[in-house]
Amino acid sequence: MIENVHKLLAEAKAFEISNAEQLEAFRLNFIAKNGQVTALFKEFRNVPADQKKEFGAELNKLKQFAEDRFKATKEALEDAVDENQGGVDLTLPTIPNALGGRHPLTVVREQISDIFARIGFNISEGPEIEDDWHNFTALNFPENHPAREMQDTFFIEKNPDITLRTHTSSVQVRVMENEKPPIRTLSPGRVFRNEAISARAHCIFHQVEGLYIDKNVSFADLKQTLYYFVKELFGEQVKLRFRPSFFPFTEPSAEIDISCLLCKGDGCNVCKKTGWVEIGGAGMVDPNVLKNCGIDPEEYSGFAFGMGIERITMLKYQIKDLRLFTENDVRFLRQFKTIG
Ligand code: PHE
Repeated sequence: MIENVHKLLAEAKAFEISNAEQLEAFRLNFIAKNGQVTALFKEFRNVPADQKKEFGAELNKLKQFAEDRFKATKEALEDAVDENQGGVDLTLPTIPNALGGRHPLTVVREQISDIFARIGFNISEGPEIEDDWHNFTALNFPENHPAREMQDTFFIEKNPDITLRTHTSSVQVRVMENEKPPIRTLSPGRVFRNEAISARAHCIFHQVEGLYIDKNVSFADLKQTLYYFVKELFGEQVKLRFRPSFFPFTEPSAEIDISCLLCKGDGCNVCKKTGWVEIGGAGMVDPNVLKNCGIDPEEYSGFAFGMGIERITMLKYQIKDLRLFTENDVRFLRQFKTIG
């Protein structure tokens, strides 16, 4: 009698299970209600009384073994199926998630804002769609000034009084109209000019203009402020020069040049062999402009300056083509992720 139990245990141990069908065969044989183990349980009552205890114990062992083996093998087979069918292995490292970075123009705009914030300049913003008054007339542009003509400015056909702003000086007009001096403000923003797109020009670009109005502001203040700015942004070694120029809204006016960062002033293609590159314009605010904006030129004076953010970024990071800023090529943009 007991030999039957031992025989069946040996069989259960030796039974080959390497796929789902064999597992099912094992179940039918050793676990199912009409399987061999259940059959042995039925024989229990025929076992002589003095052997019942041992028989029962051995039979329970067999039952336990069959159930354990079934369960363990079933799990192992299921795991194997998961892996073969591309199941998720939670122990693998994750696919890296690309983190974005700020655009180089944003980075430089913030650097410029920070430098001026340290000497008390706040930030002012205004509309990109402007009227003639804020973009031109208040700024002392004569009726026939070429900047008003179609080749430079985007006008709205239905209403020639409306234009896409050509500079952020329009924001300075709005600040002067609405605030009382002292005024120290920086106006960064997008501007529009009717230009063909090339390596050096675009019909949409960015400017940052500055305005300082108070009692007794002089050209010396303008120069010193820009010296401070240029050294902070480009480094101590950079030289600055002012070239006499003309703007309708400033008198006297100057172009701001810095020594070429590529050739260190020796002369190269970027500076057209002059050793100098222009970064913007500046001057003392014309008394007419102050009057137009409701500020008494007898009491107050001020200076203004304006620079192209693209130009400054190109010089600072030696970028040769302006179009790179708008092409959205991540190979270009990625290089600026860690600056600023
Ligand atoms: N608004 C001028 C431009 O866009 C720049 C400028 C600003 C010049 C302030 C002088 C003073 O060209």
